[in-house]
Amino acid sequence: AAVHAADLVVFGGTGDLSMRKLIPALYHSDRDGRLAPETRIVAMSRGGLTDADFRGKVDADVRDQVPVDDPAVWQRFLGRLHHVSVDVGGSDRSGWSALSRLLAGHEQRDRVFYLASPPMTFGPFCRELEAAGLVTPHSRVVLEKPLGRDLPSAQRINDEVGAIFDERQIFRIDHYLGKETVQNLLVLRFANAFLEPIWNSLWIDHVQITVAETVGTPGRRGYYDQAGALRDMVQNHLLQLLTLTAMEPPARNDREAIRDEKVKVLQALRPIQEASEVDRFTVRGQYVGEGAMAGYLDEPGSTPPTRDSERVETFTAIRAEIKNWRWAGVPFYLRTGKRMPRRVSEIVVQFKDVPHSIYPGGSPNRLVLRLQPEEGIQLHIMAKEPGAGETTLKPVPLSLSFGETFTTRVPEAYERLLSDVLGGNPTLFMRRDEVEAAWRWIDPILAAWESSADLPEPYPAGSPGPAGARELLGRSGRAWHEEA
Ligand code: BG6
Repeated sequence: AAVHAADLVVFGGTGDLSMRKLIPALYHSDRDGRLAPETRIVAMSRGGLTDADFRGKVDADVRDQVPVDDPAVWQRFLGRLHHVSVDVGGSDRSGWSALSRLLAGHEQRDRVFYLASPPMTFGPFCRELEAAGLVTPHSRVVLEKPLGRDLPSAQRINDEVGAIFDERQIFRIDHYLGKETVQNLLVLRFANAFLEPIWNSLWIDHVQITVAETVGTPGRRGYYDQAGALRDMVQNHLLQLLTLTAMEPPARNDREAIRDEKVKVLQALRPIQEASEVDRFTVRGQYVGEGAMAGYLDEPGSTPPTRDSERVETFTAIRAEIKNWRWAGVPFYLRTGKRMPRRVSEIVVQFKDVPHSIYPGGSPNRLVLRLQPEEGIQLHIMAKEPGAGETTLKPVPLSLSFGETFTTRVPEAYERLLSDVLGGNPTLFMRRDEVEAAWRWIDPILAAWESSADLPEPYPAGSPGPAGARELLGRSGRAWHEEA
């Protein structure tokens, strides 16, 4: 595709996300020839930096994170960078006029406003942009998560942004959709014939979706106390993985066809709403100190712990169900946590046992889609262990490692997503109805947790989470993949 000249304006442009993900991703795009020569990147922050200061900061902070094989390319990239200081919510208008001056005369370019700032700034920033006359027909806006903290706040943000931008101009990011292996899930399902006939409740016993992280939350208390694992990870990343696993085959590989199918899955999720159901189908935990690792309440944070800190979940496991023809009766177990023993994101599809076994000791097939690290796919099948005596069965993996099969560099999620924004392709972004359907399912769980007198179950940092998570599967005779 032809690369158009664009002006990419990043709010929160000197923040953590920008410096760790966006700027490195843009550099890779530049290096690979995916940015037009005139394309500019404008960081907006309160920082009071000049263009030269900002270029110096990127040179100091980012150069070591990326492979710079040609210093001329790096210099060309630095040359694209600009900085404009804004007085957020204040009376000083000079930042908006400075942005207008910078963009003036380039109305024909694609214009992308990337809001990597807190969600309460989304509406006000869009209004400022409109008031300054900066929203052109070629403009798009990118919204970073979290998109609100419940359904009403998400709807408010969507209304506010929607008053200025058309839905087709709004790109809501979920960076999990930019991950190679997540897109591969669709290719695996819809470009291979053998899986689809058995991808249903007749053949599948249950599905497990796990995103486990070893990191804790040091320095993030201000955000995390208000979020917790359900808002931070499940509402977006895990539910996105669930929709891609469960959706019906779309008729075309296009933005609306795919998103239509995803939203249907979210709408078919069985609500978990009575307090007794929430108790039965959800588990929440919070890590406590273990050895050298601090507990959530003792993590060095920007703010001291409060009552919110005690109640916030750093781990959750949920038994979800999709009420439709394909999936009725198949539990989807979702699990995510901080300070787990290993960093692993995977989708495990557990098949049913053979209808009639003629051998002792078999176990059902299992398909494991590993999203990170060591991306790959494993199908656990039964094989005969070599030997002249009695037939002995052994589960062995048919294994595909992306790293070994493909030698090309695996791009970071943000590279793909930024390319799609610049190319105007919203397929891998969440549509308004999708985000709202996800919140509609999450809200009653949040409400029940908030009104419960119980605190999250403690689990030692570095352990696989609270005992409740094991019981969630154990009471129907199932076990998490790594324990089975
Ligand atoms: C972010 C969450 O959306 O995703 C973080 O806010 C989490 O809490 C991160 O650590 C995980 O992303 P990844 O790509 O490292 O799996």
